[in-house]
Amino acid sequence: MYSICDMSEKLKLYRPDIDSIFTYVLGQYPNAYNWFLNRVIPELPIKRKILGCFVKGKIVAIAILKINDPDEKICTFYVRSKYRRRGIGTALMTECLKYLTNPYIVVKTSGIFFFRRLLEKFGFELVYKGNLAYRYRLFDRSS
Ligand SMILES: CC(C)(COP(=O)(O)OP(=O)(O)OC[C@H]1O[C@@H](n2cnc3c(N)ncnc32)[C@H](O)[C@@H]1OP(=O)(O)O)[C@@H](O)C(=O)NCCC(=O)NCCS
Repeated sequence: MYSICDMSEKLKLYRPDIDSIFTYVLGQYPNAYNWFLNRVIPELPIKRKILGCFVKGKIVAIAILKINDPDEKICTFYVRSKYRRRGIGTALMTECLKYLTNPYIVVKTSGIFFFRRLLEKFGFELVYKGNLAYRYRLFDRSS
């Protein structure tokens, strides 16, 4: 069993959980924590949102969103490897889309294998295919 919660408004309380999950995300994105400190925190809670997924009180997944912005985006989306393939990514994405209308997400080419099915399932379309990353966008949700 898992539960998803909005960590944006109680950052102080959730900070140890957020820091601990960044130890996993950082393996792939070494600058992610500096970005979190310098860009995400100052923009909470109006322009950014942080959603976390917990299993037995332990954080296993995180999503960081850019909201209330024409450039709305899913900036970070990560499920710890041990907890994948049991619907957590799907549940977290469902929660993310409550706050976003036409978001995009950039996925490293090395991560496409994991992300493709999840994104296509929600109707994201591939809009840019680069050597290092792919960009997906979700269209037509406001009409
Ligand atoms: C992509 C990711 C979020 C998926 O999370 P998850 O919890 O495994 O997702 P779910 O269990 O909800 O699965 C979603 C769908 O994708 C499919 N899927 C997930 N992993 C898959 C894999 N390795 N191969 C094939 N399909 C896969 C599932 O079968 C499911 O499809 P279905 O509903 O038709 O059965 C997770 O693999 C992840 O976090 N990867 C690393 C991402 C990363 O590097 N993020 C940091 C930068 S943003």
